[in-house]
Amino acid sequence: MTTDDELTIESRLAEQEYFEPPTEFVGQANMTDPGVYDRFDEFPEGFEEYAAMLDWDEHWDEVLDDSNPPFYEWFVGGKLNASHNCIDRHLDERKNQTALLWEGEDGEQRNVSYQDLYREVNEMAAALRSAGVGEDDIVTIHLPMVPALPITMLACARIGAPHSVVFAGFSASALAERVDDADSDHVVTIDGYYRRGDFLEHIEKADEAMDEVDSDPDVLAWTRHNEPQVEVSDDYTLVSELLADHRGERVAPVSRDAEDPLFLMYTSGTTGQPKGCQHRTGGYLAYATGTAKYDEDIKPSDTYWCSADIGWITGHSYIVYGPLSLGTTSVMYEGTPDYPHRGRTWEIAEKYDVDIFHTSPTAVRQFMKWGEEELEGYDFDFRHMTTVGEPIQPEAWLWYYKHVGDESAVIVDTWWQTENGGHMITNLPAIQDMKPGSAGHPAPGIEPAILDDAGEEIAPESGEAGNLAITRPWPGMLQTVHGDDERFIDEYWERFSDTDSDDSADWIYEAGDAAVQGTDGYYRILGRLDDVMNVAGHRLGTMELESAIAEVEDVAEAAVAARDDAEKGEVPDVYVTVREGVEETEELRERIVESVEEGIGKFARPSNVLFVDELPKTRSGKIMRRLLEDISNDEELGNTSTLADPSVPETIRDQLQAD
Ligand code: WTA
Repeated sequence: MTTDDELTIESRLAEQEYFEPPTEFVGQANMTDPGVYDRFDEFPEGFEEYAAMLDWDEHWDEVLDDSNPPFYEWFVGGKLNASHNCIDRHLDERKNQTALLWEGEDGEQRNVSYQDLYREVNEMAAALRSAGVGEDDIVTIHLPMVPALPITMLACARIGAPHSVVFAGFSASALAERVDDADSDHVVTIDGYYRRGDFLEHIEKADEAMDEVDSDPDVLAWTRHNEPQVEVSDDYTLVSELLADHRGERVAPVSRDAEDPLFLMYTSGTTGQPKGCQHRTGGYLAYATGTAKYDEDIKPSDTYWCSADIGWITGHSYIVYGPLSLGTTSVMYEGTPDYPHRGRTWEIAEKYDVDIFHTSPTAVRQFMKWGEEELEGYDFDFRHMTTVGEPIQPEAWLWYYKHVGDESAVIVDTWWQTENGGHMITNLPAIQDMKPGSAGHPAPGIEPAILDDAGEEIAPESGEAGNLAITRPWPGMLQTVHGDDERFIDEYWERFSDTDSDDSADWIYEAGDAAVQGTDGYYRILGRLDDVMNVAGHRLGTMELESAIAEVEDVAEAAVAARDDAEKGEVPDVYVTVREGVEETEELRERIVESVEEGIGKFARPSNVLFVDELPKTRSGKIMRRLLEDISNDEELGNTSTLADPSVPETIRDQLQAD
């Protein structure tokens, strides 16, 4: 093709507002009936369609008990086990089919069939029990992208022990904080794993965390190879040794109440303390399974690859629970997409003949920056592609559509949150046309609204931006914030609900995002409205960063502002005032960065550390981060009239320009 032709295609695509799904896609899709929306609008019974996709030990008596909002109960009276649903029930038909297709960064490969998964999960369940894990004990799992992670999760689910997976990139302190909050008596880790060719000594984080925790948990350590590659403390139990005692053992799946918790997933909020979002067994699994089937179009015969990390909610719902519950083959990759070369993603896609590919806008922007040349020579053919985690810019969407999807794959942009369990706003790919930059329509049964700051609903399809809210419950929603019902209400319900009311119609979930619904009914998500930032699709609380920085000795005060970044979406800028007599040195900057790495993790590293004389504060002493954000983004300053000293932002600007 000549360059001119290329240009014509680019400009044709750029002008096109909607993209129809290819006929071949529609012809084979799991959900093609527009009537699905009406069925789910039979509220709450519509959601039984998802629950019916699962195997239940006992059928539920009631779909939804909403008598005590916002403590909703789903599929009340039902009993089931998540590991049975993800493994045992598939054995008759597909025990030899690959469940997990794992590729190590070093090129090692493992095909874990459903039969293998059954064996390994049973043995691990027996091992956990023998290590003293009982039903309802929360197990903290700090593992990278290796098969041990889903195996441990499913083993916990099998014995009714909720898991709390902490993303491997979190630091020792972040791990310790989550172990304490969950009151975990067991922590599962691994000696190490590969990252850009190096063997990372992951177990060090557990070592340090054990010095910091309030209690004295038992540590179980997997090994990346047969033998430990680094020193493992004598206080720890090697999982390999434990498993050796339980070879061939079978553990009957514990029949759990639908409302029994399946897992905790900590996420950032507007305070320094992360929240343990607690997810129920029945409603969560039904919602993850149903949305994976309808939105992701997953079939058992597919090879499905979600390149997220299982340490975040996307990996829980759309690498482990949703895909395995549907009996498909789910790909897991240990490493980074640019190791040992920038074509690694496409090499894997070709090698395993991936049908469905799921990634983040940050990854798409990165691929785009590397250039389409990196895809040349790789022969793969995606039918369906997903993005999640951040808004995707139309240019990035178009690039993904053209160069990765070859204009023949559908794309779904899925908006949802850790708290939601599964997709909330996304198109059903065979039913609606795609629109670059828009997440699209509410998922079946989901009822969003856009509210103004006073809580009044903005007219639907008005094109006017406001606060995104959800006006009725759904099965994937979190049950509560672990151990803190009050915080659950404060964080999500207080603002827009009549909290004195027992009528669930008066309870409205606040998402914390801004959104706009166009005249065509499509929702576009604009980003967070609260003090949560989105760095490369990772959710970070500005308060968490600030409390990590406050620990640095010479820092008087710190405020974090989100700066827009072409690749990562947002990056943290840190504004710091130092104590009297302290010099603003490079060394202090480094200590500040280190403190964030130690308090949270390397992925939260500040992009800039800016020394200033004063921070902009209101008369009551509240730091106005929004003004700092204006400064970071070189935008016109917002309203400064509530500042104690309205000249501060301009002084900061002058100061930064002078530096
Ligand atoms: C953002 C990730 C725009 C949003 C599943 C939300 C998105 C936060 C999208 C939740 C999307 C997620 N378009 N923004 N498709 N998906 N977000 O809890 O700000 O890690 O509130 O869950 O990510 O992040 P979390």
